[in-house]
Amino acid sequence: MSSFSECAVSAPIALVRATHPKPRPADDHLQFGSVFTDHMFVMDYSKGQGWHSPRIQPYQPFSMDPATAVLHYAQAVFDGLKAYRGVDGVIRFFRAEKHADRLNRSCERLCIPTLDPQQILDSFHALVRIDQDWVPRKQGTSLYLRPTVIASEPFLGVRPAYNYTYFLILSPVGPYYAEGINPVKILATDTHVRAVKGGLGAVKTAGNYAASIFAAEEAKHLGYTQVLWLDGVEHKYLDEVGTMNIMVKIGDEVITPPLSGSILPGVTRDSILSLCRDWGLSASERPISIDEVLAAARQGQLKEMWGTGTAAVVSPVGELGYKGEKLIINEGKTGPLTQRLYDAIVGIQYGGSADPHGWMTKLR
Ligand code: COI
Repeated sequence: MSSFSECAVSAPIALVRATHPKPRPADDHLQFGSVFTDHMFVMDYSKGQGWHSPRIQPYQPFSMDPATAVLHYAQAVFDGLKAYRGVDGVIRFFRAEKHADRLNRSCERLCIPTLDPQQILDSFHALVRIDQDWVPRKQGTSLYLRPTVIASEPFLGVRPAYNYTYFLILSPVGPYYAEGINPVKILATDTHVRAVKGGLGAVKTAGNYAASIFAAEEAKHLGYTQVLWLDGVEHKYLDEVGTMNIMVKIGDEVITPPLSGSILPGVTRDSILSLCRDWGLSASERPISIDEVLAAARQGQLKEMWGTGTAAVVSPVGELGYKGEKLIINEGKTGPLTQRLYDAIVGIQYGGSADPHGWMTKLR
């Protein structure tokens, strides 16, 4: 396969500064992903030349040929990570290397040439350094980084494109859900599917999100915040929530679906499993069926349910809908373990507590 970086050394990053900096929103008014900083990072790929021309430029629209491949065949991947302003004022990234690595895994699956991982990390540092005043200060807020790669060749044949654009944009964000840290309601669907093993479910590609919108709208119409996807074959096993991985506590066991090819290997998922194991909790990555969840609830053993994600952090689930039934979890309130996990990860991210796994990297 030709999907390997042809860029051997990191080229210097050219810089054109914005001449009209934008007003920054107050931390109290931040939502998710609606405001963008003054600059963006862009780099091009051409077959034969590899990745080249890394640059930081004023945030601006792209001009695109209507035949650009990504607009037709969705050869596009992205990732999402956050930079936090710590309690000591220092800006740090959470698990930046893991996100850079996942971006490259997504590239491989979509036949997009991978990037030099160091160059991805350099783009994070260089752009956040330029726009560092945009990193909000209030707890619960952060600067969201959205690195993205798209096929930029104008060509209507279906094959890997010969040209790509890598870009990175930044957005100061508050909570992903309108509920904030309050419990969300999710609806398990057995009519629509997000992904099947062997498909694209394990990578962060645009099409996965397009596939989720119809069912998400149906769920919203019924009063739910998100869809809980079941496996695409038997419609029986929990997969993920699309914007987050899912975890349940049944009795004393924390359970999350395994990385078996149809769910995203969430960075927050991995971190939360580590915290559970650090604390001596039993944390299993195993298939869990919706029937097992319902049976546990009937026996009073379904203690807590929560989602994990970069945008969602740790989001308690207070209600699960399935086939017209409503299951209220922990009286619709945030459970003690969910709260403990939220506090622990947020403590690490904002530098208020120790970082035993070395997850945080200081902005250089
Ligand atoms: C993230 O958590 O970073 C995501 O990409 C989820 C979503 C906003 C698409």
